[in-house]
Amino acid sequence: METMNAVLTRRSIRTFHPEPVEPLAIRTMIEAAMYAPSAGNQAPWRFVLIQNRETLMAIRRDHPYASALETAPMAILVCGATGDLPHPEFWSVDCAAATENLMLAAKDLGLGSVWIGLYPRRERMSALTSMLKLPADVEPFALIPVGHPMENVEEPQRYRPEWIRSEQWFEPWAPGRLDLKAEAEKQAEERKIAEALKRRDSGLHD
Ligand SMILES: Cc1cc2nc3c(=O)[nH]c(=O)nc-3n(C[C@H](O)[C@H](O)[C@H](O)COP(=O)(O)O)c2cc1C
Repeated sequence: METMNAVLTRRSIRTFHPEPVEPLAIRTMIEAAMYAPSAGNQAPWRFVLIQNRETLMAIRRDHPYASALETAPMAILVCGATGDLPHPEFWSVDCAAATENLMLAAKDLGLGSVWIGLYPRRERMSALTSMLKLPADVEPFALIPVGHPMENVEEPQRYRPEWIRSEQWFEPWAPGRLDLKAEAEKQAEERKIAEALKRRDSGLHD
Protein backbone atom coordinates (compact mmCIF):
# COMPACT_ATOMS: atom_id res chain seq x y z
CA MET A 1 0.00 0.00 0.00
CA GLU A 2 1.28 3.43 -0.87
CA THR A 3 2.12 5.67 2.09
CA MET A 4 -0.49 8.27 1.15
CA ASN A 5 -3.15 5.62 0.78
CA ALA A 6 -2.44 4.35 4.31
CA VAL A 7 -2.48 7.89 5.70
CA LEU A 8 -5.75 8.84 4.00
CA THR A 9 -7.64 5.59 4.68
CA ARG A 10 -6.55 4.82 8.27
CA ARG A 11 -9.47 5.11 10.66
CA SER A 12 -9.90 4.02 14.26
CA ILE A 13 -11.06 0.40 14.43
CA ARG A 14 -12.76 -0.70 17.64
CA THR A 15 -14.22 -4.10 16.71
CA PHE A 16 -12.01 -7.04 15.71
CA HIS A 17 -12.13 -10.66 14.57
CA PRO A 18 -10.73 -13.05 17.22
CA GLU A 19 -7.94 -14.23 14.85
CA PRO A 20 -4.51 -13.50 16.41
CA VAL A 21 -2.03 -11.05 14.91
CA GLU A 22 0.94 -12.78 13.25
CA PRO A 23 4.32 -12.39 15.02
CA LEU A 24 5.83 -10.99 11.79
CA ALA A 25 3.12 -8.33 11.64
CA ILE A 26 3.80 -7.40 15.29
CA ARG A 27 7.49 -7.07 14.52
CA THR A 28 6.77 -4.92 11.43
CA MET A 29 4.51 -2.51 13.36
CA ILE A 30 7.08 -2.10 16.12
CA GLU A 31 9.90 -1.69 13.65
CA ALA A 32 7.90 1.11 11.99
CA ALA A 33 7.43 2.75 15.40
CA MET A 34 11.16 2.55 16.11
CA TYR A 35 11.92 4.40 12.85
CA ALA A 36 10.00 7.50 13.98
CA PRO A 37 11.84 10.79 14.36
CA SER A 38 12.70 11.84 17.93
CA ALA A 39 14.42 14.78 19.61
CA GLY A 40 18.17 14.32 19.22
CA ASN A 41 17.38 10.76 18.11
CA GLN A 42 16.83 9.89 21.77
CA ALA A 43 14.28 7.15 20.85
CA PRO A 44 12.60 6.99 24.28
CA TRP A 45 9.97 4.45 23.19
CA ARG A 46 9.53 1.00 24.69
CA PHE A 47 6.71 -1.47 23.98
CA VAL A 48 4.75 -3.99 26.03
CA LEU A 49 2.76 -6.57 24.06
CA ILE A 50 -0.43 -7.64 25.80
CA GLN A 51 -2.15 -10.75 24.47
CA ASN A 52 -3.58 -12.22 27.66
CA ARG A 53 -7.38 -11.85 27.49
CA GLU A 54 -7.76 -11.41 31.25
CA THR A 55 -5.20 -8.60 31.27
CA LEU A 56 -6.91 -6.91 28.30
CA MET A 57 -10.26 -7.08 30.11
CA ALA A 58 -8.76 -5.84 33.38
CA ILE A 59 -7.38 -2.78 31.56
CA ARG A 60 -10.74 -2.27 29.86
CA ARG A 61 -12.50 -2.21 33.27
CA ASP A 62 -10.20 0.58 34.46
CA HIS A 63 -10.49 2.77 31.33
CA PRO A 64 -13.74 4.52 30.34
CA TYR A 65 -13.01 4.61 26.59
CA ALA A 66 -11.30 1.29 25.97
CA SER A 67 -14.20 -0.76 24.55
CA ALA A 68 -11.89 -1.82 21.68
CA LEU A 69 -10.12 -4.13 24.15
CA GLU A 70 -13.24 -6.30 24.38
CA THR A 71 -12.61 -7.88 20.97
CA ALA A 72 -8.96 -7.03 20.23
CA PRO A 73 -6.71 -10.10 20.17
CA MET A 74 -3.86 -7.95 21.44
CA ALA A 75 -2.78 -4.46 22.39
CA ILE A 76 0.56 -2.73 22.18
CA LEU A 77 1.43 -0.41 25.03
CA VAL A 78 3.72 2.39 23.88
CA CYS A 79 5.81 3.60 26.82
CA GLY A 80 8.37 6.33 27.30
CA ALA A 81 11.62 5.42 29.09
CA THR A 82 12.20 8.83 30.62
CA GLY A 83 15.33 8.30 32.74
CA ASP A 84 18.54 9.88 31.48
CA LEU A 85 17.27 11.44 28.23
CA PRO A 86 19.18 14.31 26.55
CA HIS A 87 15.87 16.07 25.80
CA PRO A 88 13.45 14.81 28.47
CA GLU A 89 10.79 17.44 27.70
CA PHE A 90 10.21 15.85 24.28
CA TRP A 91 9.63 12.22 25.31
CA SER A 92 5.85 12.32 24.82
CA VAL A 93 6.12 14.05 21.44
CA ASP A 94 8.59 11.38 20.34
CA CYS A 95 6.23 8.62 21.53
CA ALA A 96 3.34 10.21 19.61
CA ALA A 97 5.38 10.06 16.39
CA ALA A 98 6.20 6.40 17.09
CA THR A 99 2.54 5.63 17.81
CA GLU A 100 1.37 7.10 14.52
CA ASN A 101 4.05 5.16 12.62
CA LEU A 102 2.85 1.98 14.33
CA MET A 103 -0.78 2.63 13.39
CA LEU A 104 0.07 3.39 9.77
CA ALA A 105 2.07 0.16 9.58
CA ALA A 106 -0.97 -1.69 10.97
CA LYS A 107 -3.09 -0.19 8.21
CA ASP A 108 -0.48 -1.15 5.63
CA LEU A 109 -0.66 -4.76 6.88
CA GLY A 110 -4.46 -4.82 6.55
CA LEU A 111 -4.90 -4.58 10.33
CA GLY A 112 -7.03 -2.19 12.34
CA SER A 113 -6.01 -0.23 15.42
CA VAL A 114 -7.10 2.59 17.68
CA TRP A 115 -5.20 4.97 19.96
CA ILE A 116 -6.41 4.63 23.55
CA GLY A 117 -5.25 7.74 25.35
CA LEU A 118 -3.27 7.35 28.59
CA TYR A 119 -0.68 10.15 28.91
CA PRO A 120 -1.09 12.76 30.41
CA ARG A 121 -4.08 11.41 32.41
CA ARG A 122 -2.32 10.28 35.60
CA GLU A 123 -5.17 8.04 36.80
CA ARG A 124 -5.17 6.10 33.51
CA MET A 125 -1.39 5.84 33.52
CA SER A 126 -1.07 4.63 37.11
CA ALA A 127 -3.57 1.80 36.52
CA LEU A 128 -1.33 0.50 33.72
CA THR A 129 1.87 1.07 35.70
CA SER A 130 0.77 -1.12 38.56
CA MET A 131 -0.95 -3.78 36.45
CA LEU A 132 2.04 -4.30 34.13
CA LYS A 133 4.73 -3.66 36.78
CA LEU A 134 6.37 -0.77 34.92
CA PRO A 135 9.49 0.70 36.57
CA ALA A 136 9.29 4.24 37.99
CA ASP A 137 11.06 5.84 35.01
CA VAL A 138 8.87 4.16 32.37
CA GLU A 139 5.69 6.10 31.56
CA PRO A 140 2.75 4.41 29.83
CA PHE A 141 1.95 6.69 26.89
CA ALA A 142 -0.76 5.13 24.68
CA LEU A 143 -2.40 1.75 24.36
CA ILE A 144 -3.04 0.47 20.83
CA PRO A 145 -5.47 -2.45 20.43
CA VAL A 146 -4.65 -4.17 17.13
CA GLY A 147 -6.37 -6.90 15.14
CA HIS A 148 -8.18 -7.90 11.98
CA PRO A 149 -10.94 -5.32 11.52
CA MET A 150 -14.54 -6.39 11.92
CA GLU A 151 -16.00 -3.01 10.94
CA ASN A 152 -15.88 -0.73 7.95
CA VAL A 153 -15.61 2.93 8.74
CA GLU A 154 -16.21 5.64 6.22
CA GLU A 155 -13.41 7.87 4.99
CA PRO A 156 -14.26 11.47 5.72
CA GLN A 157 -13.06 14.46 3.75
CA ARG A 158 -10.69 16.22 6.13
CA TYR A 159 -8.67 18.48 3.88
CA ARG A 160 -9.29 22.10 4.93
CA PRO A 161 -7.52 24.63 2.69
CA GLU A 162 -8.62 27.48 4.97
CA TRP A 163 -6.36 26.09 7.74
CA ILE A 164 -3.29 26.76 5.60
CA ARG A 165 -1.77 30.21 5.58
CA SER A 166 1.07 31.60 3.57
CA GLU A 167 3.87 33.67 5.17
CA GLN A 168 1.50 35.39 7.61
CA TRP A 169 -1.87 34.64 9.22
CA PHE A 170 -4.25 36.54 6.95
CA GLU A 171 -2.80 35.33 3.66
CA PRO A 172 -4.40 32.13 2.32
CA TRP A 173 -2.10 29.65 0.69
CA ALA A 174 -4.46 29.38 -2.27
CA PRO A 175 -4.56 33.10 -3.22
CA GLY A 176 -7.78 34.53 -4.52
CA ARG A 177 -9.91 31.63 -3.34
CA LEU A 178 -10.29 32.62 0.31
CA ASP A 179 -10.62 35.99 2.01
CA LEU A 180 -9.43 35.05 5.48
CA LYS A 181 -9.52 38.57 6.90
CA ALA A 182 -13.13 39.09 5.85
CA GLU A 183 -13.99 35.65 7.24
CA ALA A 184 -12.30 36.42 10.61
CA GLU A 185 -14.10 39.78 10.81
CA LYS A 186 -17.42 38.14 10.00
CA GLN A 187 -16.88 35.52 12.72
CA ALA A 188 -15.92 38.19 15.29
CA GLU A 189 -19.07 40.15 14.42
CA GLU A 190 -21.20 37.00 14.77
CA ARG A 191 -19.61 36.26 18.16
CA LYS A 192 -20.39 39.82 19.32
CA ILE A 193 -24.03 39.46 18.28
CA ALA A 194 -24.32 36.03 19.95
CA GLU A 195 -22.85 37.41 23.20
CA ALA A 196 -25.19 40.43 23.13
CA LEU A 197 -28.18 38.11 22.65
CA LYS A 198 -26.99 35.90 25.51
CA ARG A 199 -26.66 38.94 27.80
CA ARG A 200 -30.11 40.15 26.79
CA ASP A 201 -31.64 36.73 27.45
CA SER A 202 -30.05 36.51 30.87
CA GLY A 203 -31.46 39.93 31.80
CA LEU A 204 -28.17 41.84 31.73
CA HIS A 205 -27.80 45.06 29.73
CA ASP A 206 -24.84 47.07 28.43
C1 LIG B 1 -4.44 11.34 22.08
C2 LIG B 1 -5.57 10.46 21.61
C3 LIG B 1 -6.37 9.84 22.53
C4 LIG B 1 -7.42 9.00 22.12
N1 LIG B 1 -8.12 8.31 23.06
C5 LIG B 1 -9.05 7.42 22.66
C6 LIG B 1 -9.69 6.58 23.63
O1 LIG B 1 -9.42 6.65 24.82
N2 LIG B 1 -10.60 5.68 23.18
C7 LIG B 1 -10.92 5.56 21.85
O2 LIG B 1 -11.76 4.70 21.51
N3 LIG B 1 -10.34 6.37 20.89
C8 LIG B 1 -9.41 7.26 21.28
N4 LIG B 1 -8.73 8.02 20.35
C9 LIG B 1 -9.08 7.89 18.91
C10 LIG B 1 -9.85 9.12 18.40
O3 LIG B 1 -11.15 9.12 18.92
C11 LIG B 1 -9.83 9.11 16.87
O4 LIG B 1 -8.51 9.07 16.39
C12 LIG B 1 -10.55 10.32 16.29
O5 LIG B 1 -11.91 10.28 16.60
C13 LIG B 1 -10.39 10.43 14.77
O6 LIG B 1 -10.89 9.26 14.15
P1 LIG B 1 -9.99 8.32 13.23
O7 LIG B 1 -8.87 7.75 14.10
O8 LIG B 1 -10.93 7.24 12.75
O9 LIG B 1 -9.42 9.14 12.13
C14 LIG B 1 -7.69 8.85 20.73
C15 LIG B 1 -6.87 9.49 19.80
C16 LIG B 1 -5.81 10.25 20.23
C17 LIG B 1 -4.87 10.87 19.19
